[in-house]
Amino acid sequence: MPSAESDKVPMAMQTLTLRTRRQIPQIGLGVYKSEPGPVTKNAVRAALETGYRHIDTAMIYNNEPDVGETIRASGIDRSDVFVTTKLWNDDHGYDNTLAAFNRSLDQLGLDYVDLYLIHWPVPVLRLDTWRALERLTLDGRVRDIGVSNYLARHIDEILEYAPVVPAVNQIELSPYLYRTRLDTVERCRENGIVVEAYSPLTKGRKLDDPILAEIGSVHGKTAAQVLIRWAVQHDFVVLPKSVNPDRIVENYAVFDFSLSDEQMDRLDNLDEGLVTGWDPADVE
Ligand SMILES: NC(=O)c1ccc[n+]([C@@H]2O[C@H](COP(=O)([O-])OP(=O)(O)OC[C@H]3O[C@@H](n4cnc5c(N)ncnc54)[C@H](OP(=O)(O)O)[C@@H]3O)[C@@H](O)[C@H]2O)c1
Repeated sequence: MPSAESDKVPMAMQTLTLRTRRQIPQIGLGVYKSEPGPVTKNAVRAALETGYRHIDTAMIYNNEPDVGETIRASGIDRSDVFVTTKLWNDDHGYDNTLAAFNRSLDQLGLDYVDLYLIHWPVPVLRLDTWRALERLTLDGRVRDIGVSNYLARHIDEILEYAPVVPAVNQIELSPYLYRTRLDTVERCRENGIVVEAYSPLTKGRKLDDPILAEIGSVHGKTAAQVLIRWAVQHDFVVLPKSVNPDRIVENYAVFDFSLSDEQMDRLDNLDEGLVTGWDPADVE
């Protein structure tokens, strides 16, 4: 749970500790569907000016160059910004993965990425792919490696097979998709794998739920802030996406209030198995 001390400091950056003992800022700007070019650059610039120190991109988002360029131009020390990118499904397999990583690093124009993820548990190939990620950590161009869209059984498989345990598992999580994913969350926790919540705002679908408005009104906060705070209090890394500077500020202003146990409980019980993106449930 966030410490009482950090709760008192509005807008303070809060971090979680990865199994390698490195720190990961708990809120990251998501840039899925952020249009390449000025739209993504403006979003990343607004986020860095607000205090975000974590950007979550992927090869398939087509905006690695904009993310890298904006970070380089920001004047912020590279070591103070946490950058994640992801390996796309077409690039699985040992040699393909090494080549795809080189292309991503080149697109970003950075010397290293903080976190490189397998975007999706592509059957069979994902094991060789993981060996390549392990290899990539050896020369310092990747600080941490992890997975995304892995359910409990995919985590079990990698733990059985791999010398290096993933640092994170990035999965869709919101109060509307929480109990359904609890076995995966627990499997990660048991093994020291940090859980990252993607599509934490349900892609906007549930922002008009009166329960969120009711809970938010107690704290003078919006529905989006309630959802992000819920994820923070569950010790998830949370990755809200916006290209709107006002919302980017809003989504970060969640360290000056706390949801009560009762409010957390109400939110935990909103599960309706709402998957807004792709669903790994059928992946062997
Ligand atoms: N690993 C994976 O497979 C995977 C899959 C999906 C997502 N992700 C990651 O997770 C990030 C977030 O997920 P997401 O992009 O699917 O959706 P999301 O963050 O749940 O929702 C984004 C939507 O909410 C709107 N929005 C943002 N802040 C708002 C606010 N304060 N009030 C009202 N509306 C607001 C955004 O519009 P505006 O931009 O116009 O503000 C956008 O339409 C992605 O960008 C990506 O980094 C990963």
